[in-house]
Amino acid sequence: MRRPLIAGNWKMNGLSADAVALAGALRDRLDGLEGVDRVVCPPHIHLAAVAGELAQSAIAVGAQNCADAPQGARTGEVAADMVADAGARYVILGHSERRQYYGEDEALIAARCGQALAAGLRPILCVGETLEAREGDRTEATVAEQIHGVLDRLGAEGLGEGVVAYEPVWAIGTGRTATAEQAQQVHGFIRGQLAERLGGSAADAMRILYGGSMKADNAEALLAQPDVDGGLIGGASLQADSFAAICAAAA
Ligand code: G3H
Repeated sequence: MRRPLIAGNWKMNGLSADAVALAGALRDRLDGLEGVDRVVCPPHIHLAAVAGELAQSAIAVGAQNCADAPQGARTGEVAADMVADAGARYVILGHSERRQYYGEDEALIAARCGQALAAGLRPILCVGETLEAREGDRTEATVAEQIHGVLDRLGAEGLGEGVVAYEPVWAIGTGRTATAEQAQQVHGFIRGQLAERLGGSAADAMRILYGGSMKADNAEALLAQPDVDGGLIGGASLQADSFAAICAAAA
């Protein structure tokens, strides 16, 4: 069975003292909780400090992006092995905010993924449709294009030990969550697409997270769905209480 994973995406929030304090509070709050993997993804600049704070804990650290090249003339980018060197084990890639505000497309996301895998990081590949696509009955087509657009450019191992996060854009930061049934429908579709590409057993082993206004009070219903293997949490990951409650719901 797939072990649930709850990942906190802190996005562009908090100074270093805030990040270390939140990490410390989570370490204390989640100590001893069994049956769920957890990871927090602070801004790059706080990675090493947060990894240091969590060194003796069961909480892994992830980054929110990594570069599409191993080194060199890429002003403002951070290489995957630098992210790993700072203590990260995961990296979020293809988040809809990167697609929307920075024009990231599948070719660029795949290049970032390739670098992440080469550095031993586990990608958290984000996919999801806009409201316009959902209302136009293009949810599955959108998600399929995003998944295949990346897998087409990677080797046979695909995402390796990475995970997929389904994040409907219309549910991110809006307070509007996909229903458990809507989430299950797309997660099941994603697993089918992964099976076509990677084979049934690799698809069965891969965790598919839901993201989009997941909170303590709706986590249980979402996580009860057979193909929802965890969550990628934005707003609710910035408070130790709410993130801990979601982790407890997944355990
Ligand atoms: O990466 C996390 C998602 O964008 C979800 O954010 O929980 O604030 O809706 P949210």
